[in-house]
Amino acid sequence: MKQPIRAPAGVRIAPYFPIPELHIMKSTLLTVMTATLFASATWAEDMAPPDIETGRTLYFEVCASCHGSTGAGGAGPDLRPAAEAFDIDGFVFFIQNPPDSMPSFASALSEKEMRDIASFVASLAPM
Ligand code: HEC
Repeated sequence: MKQPIRAPAGVRIAPYFPIPELHIMKSTLLTVMTATLFASATWAEDMAPPDIETGRTLYFEVCASCHGSTGAGGAGPDLRPAAEAFDIDGFVFFIQNPPDSMPSFASALSEKEMRDIASFVASLAPM
């Protein structure tokens, strides 16, 4: 009688892929493509001009409790003098790395959101 072919006891047979390298390449390529697409979408978002209305909304949600609704200060300092000598990159850096008692917003806000807030704060500068 003919015996069916089977692996000896204890030997596992690997699942069959016609060309294993191709299989791996395909998934790597997909990952890289997805990552690139995602990165360029985020990049485009970061480079978009800041939106002052979004900035206003975010400012009232996360900053006004300490800096006041007019930016004149409270628990945190008056933002208007800084807004006058305005430097958007410095501002973003500051809220990512506040030196002292202000909480960092590096993980809570995207860079675009920080730029939106920056453009709103700039508008608080005394004329
Ligand atoms: C919990 C209170 C608190 C919150 C919330 C807060 N800040 Fe501050 N902020 C401070 C304090 C206190 C300082 C003074 C520097 C320090 O202690 O780190 C400061 C300093 C600053 C400065 C520097 C001002 C200067 O003239 O040197 C800027 C700009 C600023 N905050 C922006 C923001 C923005 C934008 C937000 C919202 C995303 C925010 N802060 C949220 C408390 C706060």
